[in-house]
Amino acid sequence: MAETNEIAPSYPIPRATGCPLDPPPLLGELREQRAVSPVTLWDGRTAWLVTRLEDVRRLLRDSRLSADVRNPSYPFLSEGQVATRELLESFIRTDPPEHDRQRRMLTAEFRVKQIESMRPGVQRIVDRLLDDMIAAGSPADFVTAFALPLPSLVICQLLGVPYSDHDFFQRCTAVAFNRNSTAEQIRTSREQLTDYLGRLVASKAERPTDDLLSRMVLNQELPGHLTREQVVKTAILLLVGGHETTANMTALSVFDLLRHPEQSELLRERPELIPGAVEELLRVHTVAHNGLPRVAVEDIEVDGTTIPAGDAVLLSLAAANHDPRAFDAPDRLDVERNSRGHVAFGFGVHQCLGQPLARLELQIALDTILRRLPGLRLVNDSLEDLDCRHSMTIFGLHSLPVAW
Ligand code: HEM
Repeated sequence: MAETNEIAPSYPIPRATGCPLDPPPLLGELREQRAVSPVTLWDGRTAWLVTRLEDVRRLLRDSRLSADVRNPSYPFLSEGQVATRELLESFIRTDPPEHDRQRRMLTAEFRVKQIESMRPGVQRIVDRLLDDMIAAGSPADFVTAFALPLPSLVICQLLGVPYSDHDFFQRCTAVAFNRNSTAEQIRTSREQLTDYLGRLVASKAERPTDDLLSRMVLNQELPGHLTREQVVKTAILLLVGGHETTANMTALSVFDLLRHPEQSELLRERPELIPGAVEELLRVHTVAHNGLPRVAVEDIEVDGTTIPAGDAVLLSLAAANHDPRAFDAPDRLDVERNSRGHVAFGFGVHQCLGQPLARLELQIALDTILRRLPGLRLVNDSLEDLDCRHSMTIFGLHSLPVAW
C-alpha cells in the first residue's frame, strides 16, 4: 500500500449536495493538483487515484496493472464488497491470458453486427413499455415503468433467463452493489444468485434452448473449455452487468434531456444526432463512477510519481471524462459535442463487452421517447430532491417521477 504523509482524502469522495449529478468538486481539484493522488479507503489503507484522461487510458492498457481480485492489495471500497470477492471472480477480475481466453468465447455474441440484429426486438420492447406506461396514466415513476425493465427484458431474452424472476435478480443486484449493505446481506444475495443461475444453467444442459446460456453450456462447458462454475460466474456477470448499468444511464439521460429542453428539441428535429448524444450522455454521467480497481504488479511511473509494485490503484473514469484537457467546459451537456475518446465503458482489455448492446438500447429508448412523448416533463426538477444512488457502485436514480 502507498505510504504517504500527505493528506489522503477518504474515498469514494462524496458528491456536492446541491449538484449531485456532477462529479465531486474535490475530484476535479485533485486532478488539477497532480496526476496521481493518494486516497484513504474504508479500512484505512491507501490507494493511488488516477484522474486525468490521458493517464487513465494509458494505464488501462498497461499490463503492469492487474485486475485480479485475489491480489491481497485489491482495493475494495467497503467491508461488504470484500464479501463479493467470489462473485467478482469472473473474467472481469482476471488477468490475461486467462481473461482473454474466456472473453473470446463471448465476443461473437456481442459483435456490433450481431447486436444490430436485435434492433427490431429491442424496438418492440421499448414500444410495449411505453404503451404500458401511457396506459397506466400520468404521472409515473420512469425508473420502475421503463428504465429498469428495458435492459432487464433485453438481457433476459439474450441469456435465456425468465423475466418473471426479475424482482428476485434485481433485488440481489441492488444488495450486492450497495456499499452500505452488510457483509452478511451481500453473502446471502450472492449465494441466492449463484444457486438460481446454477439451477438455470443445469436446466439448459438438460434441455438446451436458443439462447446464450445454452450456447455456453454446449460450446464451452461440454467440450471442457469452461467448468460449470465458470459458466455460472459468467452468467452472473452478464445478468448483473447487463441491467443495472443501462437502466441507470437511461434514467439519467431522460432526466438530463428533460432539464435541457433545447437539446431535446434539437434531437427531435435531427434524430441523426442521437448516437452522438448517447456518447455525450455516457461521458457526462459516467455511471461506473467509482474508480476501476487495479493493483500495480511492477513499479509504474506516472508524471514523475512512482506507484510501487504491490500498491492499489483506482482509475477514476468520472474524473477522466470531465478532464478539461480533453473536453471543453466538461460539466456541460452538449449533444452536438464530439465526445469520442471518453472512457465511460472503460478501456483496454477489460473494456465493456456489452457496449454495443447498451448503445443500441439507449439510442432506441431516447429516440422513441422523444418522438412518442413530446410532452414528457419532470414532476420536480429540483436537483436537491433528486433520489440519487450515492452509495451504489453504479450511480443513477432510485426513482424519477415524470408526467405528460
Ligand atoms: C451504459 C451501460 C454500461 C456501462 C456504463 C458499462 C461499463 C463498464 C465498464 C466501465 C467496464 C470495465 C470494468 C473494468 O475495466 O474493470 C465494463 C466491463 C464489462 N461490461 Fe459493461 N457497462 C455497461 C453495459 C453492459 C452490458 C449491457 C453488458 C452485458 C450485456 C455489460 C457487460 C460487461 C462485461 C462482461 C464486462 C467485462 C469485460 C472484461 O473484463 O473483459 N456491460 N462495463
